[in-house]
Amino acid sequence: MSPNNALHTFQEDLKTITSLERLSALETQYLGKNSVLYAALKSMKDLDPEARKRLGQEINHIKRTILEHISLKKTELLSNVNKKNHVDVTLPGKKYESGSLHLVSYAIEEISAIFERIGFIRMSYPEIEWEWFSFEALNMPAGHPARDDFETFFIDTPAHKEYGKMVLTPHTSSGQIREMLRLRKPPIRMINIAKTYRPNWDASHVPMFHQFEGLCIDKKINITHLKGTIDYFAKEFFGEDREIRLRPFHFQFTEPSFEVDITCDLCKGTGKIGISSENPKSKVQRPSSKCRLCKQGWLELGGTGMVHPNVLSAGGIDPKEYTGWAFGFGIERVMMMKPGVGLNNMRALYDGDIRVLELF
Ligand code: PHE
Repeated sequence: MSPNNALHTFQEDLKTITSLERLSALETQYLGKNSVLYAALKSMKDLDPEARKRLGQEINHIKRTILEHISLKKTELLSNVNKKNHVDVTLPGKKYESGSLHLVSYAIEEISAIFERIGFIRMSYPEIEWEWFSFEALNMPAGHPARDDFETFFIDTPAHKEYGKMVLTPHTSSGQIREMLRLRKPPIRMINIAKTYRPNWDASHVPMFHQFEGLCIDKKINITHLKGTIDYFAKEFFGEDREIRLRPFHFQFTEPSFEVDITCDLCKGTGKIGISSENPKSKVQRPSSKCRLCKQGWLELGGTGMVHPNVLSAGGIDPKEYTGWAFGFGIERVMMMKPGVGLNNMRALYDGDIRVLELF
């Protein structure tokens, strides 16, 4: 390659240089001991004086040009580095997304706080439980049809000779037995909030959900204490204007048993949507039309009742001396019933769509 060609390729190569390290390597390549220019310089001694002078001037010119280009490029690269480190204080700040708790976690916190205010302590027990705690001890012997109400996931392990198979807790009521056996002696005021599992998946059921279980045992405890406590919870959680009622029902582990209903937020317990409570401009709603949410004024909260004597005995507590009550409500269910939440599909809670979580 002639010195002139070398200048040409240098200029092409220079265009691709983006770092100071590569620039210094380029300088060595074109001006160092192994360069075309250096070889030309060494060959000068064999030339006649006239030709030597011409080549000498040419080499000097090329060398100077290369050095000038390198110096300019260096300035350019250095100024880029400085630009990167430069802080423009007038630029708008970066917006960092802020995280939040899941809706169910908020509900759990709120429910715990409501019960802690009246002296209930929050407990947690195993999520994988023995059959005995979930059924036998709750007055549902093996083969009892009431077990069908709690469709259950069984764990594929050998059965315990006393406690039977392992299950994913189908309800939080096993916590009643655990708490009685833990304390041995009333008074007991416990709130057990935990994950529960049943194989259902539709708009109002998910296979993993949460329940909160209240348990109160002492001397002379009766239904009025049960009703007073649930009424207090309903007013704290849903609002002062809400009423509850107990409707006779059946559970194996409570006697008597009830389902708790709460007045509907939309129709305020009337079962009817009047013009005053719905959109006054709507032509669809007539003054006497049925409430589209509850149809008859009440919504179901969950199950409750006085703890069955057999259950107290299974927990090592003498039913002749002590009485108690228990309730078990679904967290997702009560949360979705809360005024203003406006979710009508339980699956949306667990689909993992960030847009749902961002609403709250
Ligand atoms: N364990 C019952 C259920 O899951 C609810 C319940 C709890 C009922 C305590 C009565 C007493 O449906």
